[in-house]
This record gives sequence, C-alpha cells and structure tokens, in this order.
Amino acid sequence: MTATISAPSGTRPTLRSASPAKTRSDVVVAGVVSGAKQAEAAPGSEDIVAAYGRKFRPMLAALGVTGKAGEVNVVPTGGTIAAPVLILVGLGSEATARNLRKAAGNAARSVKNATSVALALPCESAEQLAAIVTGWRLGGYSFHTYKSGPAPEPPATVSILTASARTTEFQETLERTNVIVDAVLATRELVNIPPGDLTPPAFADALVAAHADLAATPAGSAVTITVHDEHSLAELGCGGILGVGSASAAPPRLVELSYQPEGIDDPPHLALVGKGITFDSGGLTIKPAGSMRTMKCDMAGAAAVASATFAIARLGLPVRISAFMPMAENMVDGAAFRPGDVLGIYGGHTVEITNTDAEGRLILADALGRAVEVEPDAIIDVATLTGHMVMALGDLVAGVMGNSDGLIDQVLDAAQRAGEPLWPLPIPEEMYDRLKANTVADVIQHDWVRYGGGLFAAGFLEYFVAGLPWAHLDIAGPAFHSGGANGHIVAGGTGYSVATLIELAQSVADESAAPAAGEEPDGNAESSGPTGWLRQLTPRSFMRRL
Ligand code: BES
Ligand code: MN
Ligand code: ZN
Repeated sequence: MTATISAPSGTRPTLRSASPAKTRSDVVVAGVVSGAKQAEAAPGSEDIVAAYGRKFRPMLAALGVTGKAGEVNVVPTGGTIAAPVLILVGLGSEATARNLRKAAGNAARSVKNATSVALALPCESAEQLAAIVTGWRLGGYSFHTYKSGPAPEPPATVSILTASARTTEFQETLERTNVIVDAVLATRELVNIPPGDLTPPAFADALVAAHADLAATPAGSAVTITVHDEHSLAELGCGGILGVGSASAAPPRLVELSYQPEGIDDPPHLALVGKGITFDSGGLTIKPAGSMRTMKCDMAGAAAVASATFAIARLGLPVRISAFMPMAENMVDGAAFRPGDVLGIYGGHTVEITNTDAEGRLILADALGRAVEVEPDAIIDVATLTGHMVMALGDLVAGVMGNSDGLIDQVLDAAQRAGEPLWPLPIPEEMYDRLKANTVADVIQHDWVRYGGGLFAAGFLEYFVAGLPWAHLDIAGPAFHSGGANGHIVAGGTGYSVATLIELAQSVADESAAPAAGEEPDGNAESSGPTGWLRQLTPRSFMRRL
C-alpha cells in the first residue's frame, strides 16, 4: 500500500434554519443540560419540547437522562416529531464550547445508517458553531484504510439547525472550521498509516501530493515545497537527520514548505518545525516491546506542522510561514549510529551521542538550524519528544517550553482557543551546564539523568535556535490516543497541535494588523532572550483551566 494524505473527510455540515420538529431528517440530535433539579432541554430544541408537550419531562425521567456531559440516549420518536429518531446528548450544566464538542463527537458515533442528520444543539454563537462542527467531524472519524470490509458510510447530509444560518459570521465560521478540521483529519490519517508504508520517502511524497492538491486551488501558488533527499542532506551537512536515519532501508528526507501571503508587505514570519520519525525502534539503545508498540506516531509533529501550514495557506492568513519537516526512521542494523558517535549538525555544531533513542532532538537540531537561517520572528517546534512529558502531564496535555515568555503566553492563548490542553514548563538553567559537561563534542545529546528529561531535551533544542524567540511543544502524550473514543478524540492519531498552530498564526496576523498601543509589533520584544524561566511560573499561567 502506498501512503496517501487524502483523509476521509466525512460529511461537511451545512447550515439551515429549519425547525427540528418538522425536519424530515432520519435523525435529529438535541442537547440536554443538567438543570438545578432535573435534566432540561437545551436551547435549540424548543420545537421538539413543544411537540412532545407534557410527555417530554416524563420521557427524560423514564430514560434516566441526567444531562451529564457526554451522555447519549437514542429515542425512537414514533411520529411525535417528523424525524423517526431523536438522539439526546448531555451538555453538562452549560453549553460551553468544550461540552458541545464532546456531545457532538459522541453523537456522531451513535448515528448508525442514517442518510440525513439534523443537529439541533445550542448554536447561538460562532464559538458554539465551531465546537459542533469540530466535535461532529472529528468524533465521527475512523481509520479504515486497512480494513477489508466496506468503508462505513457517513450520512449524505448533516445540517446544523440555527437561527443564524444565513449570517456571514456563521458561514465564515463554518468554512474556517472546516478547513481546520480537514487539516486535523489529514494529520490523523498520516499518523495512522502503518510505519512500513509511511517511510520517510513515502511521507515526503504524501506532502508533495498534498501540495499538488493545494496548487489546484486559488491559494496554490503561495506555497512552495522542497524535498531534500539523502544526497542533498549530505551536501547540506544535516548530520543529525542522516545519523538517525542511517540504519533504515528507507533513506531520510527533509521537507520544507514556504507560504508567502499574496499582496502583503513584510508580513510577520513564523518558522514551524516538526519531528518526523516515521518509526522509533530506539535504535541500538532499543526500546522495550511495550514502548515500541505505538512508535508509528513519532512523526505526528511533522504531520501537524505540514497540515497546519497548508491550512494557513488555504485560509489566506497574512503570515509568512516557513515549515521544516525532518523525516527519518530510527532502526537497527550494521550502519546504525552508535552511542559514542559524534554527529555534525547543520551549521557546524557537533553532538556526542549517548542514547540512540533520544533521536528526535538530533533531527530537530538540523531543522532548527535551517529555520534560523530564514530569520523568522519566532520559531515553534512540535515533537513527540519525550516519555518524561507523558509521565509529567499524562496523555491529554502537552508541555510547552521556550525562551520567550511573550511567545509562550501567545502559544498558551492559542491552545486555549483551539481547545487543546497545554501547560507551561521551565527550562532550568542547570540544563545548559549539563549540555556541555563531560563530552568530546560541543554538546552532549543526553546525560542519562532520568529526572526532568523533557526539560533537558528542551534545553538541548534551545542550543540550536540562536537566541531567536522560540517555543517547543512536547506532544508525546496527546499526539496518539490508545484508549476508546471520547468526544472528538478517537483511537489513533489525534491531530493534536494543528488547531493551536493555526490559532497562533491567526493571532500573530491579528496582532500585526493592529499592534496594541505602546507594544512592539511582535509582542515579545521585551520578554524574549535568555530563559527567564522563573517568570514563566506566574499565577496567571498556572491558573489556566485546561
Ligand atoms: N519518541 C520517543 C518519545 C515518546 C514516548 C513519544 C512516548 C511518544 C510516546 C523519543 O524518541 C524517546 O524515545 N525519548 C526518550 C528520551 C530519552 C532516551 C532521553 C524517552 O522518552 O525515554
Ligand atoms: Mn526515541
Ligand atoms: Zn522518538
């Protein structure tokens, strides 16, 4: 099988202002909130409640409906409303974006064999609309490329019932949300493809194909793609990528995307860098079997960065993006790189290898060096970098570290808007001493201190960003979901960070269009520079609700 980026996009919902009691859809989905005394119908379902009349409350009571977030009840209507099936989904005490996304995701999976579905969930604000679309499309996604049976058929039409169906704000929000969801689904699909099929060359080819798809749209000519193969990498001196990839039958790659918004002078410029290890066996420092099981997900950062870049171009955001996706497979054979080896990184720094399983930082070092050269206003890297981050924050929350409080705050705000849980962590100054201690090279890759290994890894990356404002997202936890489906998250790749990157680009664009009074246009001129890590531990940051 060959890799393909064309994700099954499910059904893109449309907006309608029809009555949920009169619509002839096969299924109507309505919300229930957990009221003070008992569950109550949520806004949007008034007509349904009216059609049931006095029978509505007893029905909720008989079904044991509580309105708890995520609860689902499938009810045959027997003709009380025009649709034969009513699905009641719990929204908790309030129809927040978070609860709506969860409810819509659960609802998407509880609809079987319907040709048409109408969603009569609370949809009064653009934020609620985005949450419904995101939950429905992401929650309804499943990866079936490798299953031999027929693919599940999504409903042909999904309409969101809302009084604001015809407003420009809602139509634009729907369009924008669909572009973001498409990018998340494309990322999930790439992560889910088996690693024997998504080798570095196949991954690079998939991005070339995705670029060709984009080239067919009006946004097309604004993005260029360059693929460096193993020969070009050798010429460039990308010893990190070549070293890590040396034991694989499939040679490494470095894919670079450049998006230049049209007709804008001197737009803000972000560099995005994503870890693209298509499979991480650990190399000679081989992983135990249990830890290797899900290591096809180790390219999730690169997939997210590429998909976000394509989406930013589709949205036409006035931000310049330079994206770098280093790709290698970390394997074992006679050509493998070894502990004790010294690798020459792009730009001339040398690294002494101590643990071939700390490979991500090596391919990122080359890519960060490339990113520094394009002189961006800020660099963001996204990587499934360390198991330490999973131990610290679990599998739902990613960690963000960096050298600029202003940038980290901006990334945290973007993650909040994107609904992706992200938490700040420090890079203690002692990491810089440890980098240079006890090594024959410029820096040591890893010093075998287990505690705080995710922070050491971030300190290592910082060495390669040449003091530019930089934020590092360690997504080792939330990039891949091994359990059952819940809300918009289903088993497999999650697409984590795509929405955050797009929101970040949007906020950088908005900020440069209207700089706040007295502030530098890039917003972080004052706070960039050496770590300032104590200042990152502000109550403001830690009061954040995830
Ligand atoms: N790809 C792994 C990190 C990872 C762990 C991703 C769990 C997703 C889930 C990374 O390359 C790795 O092996 N990191 C080592 C670093 C160590 C050797 C310093 C780790 O976490 O043990
Ligand atoms: Mn590893
Ligand atoms: Zn790895």
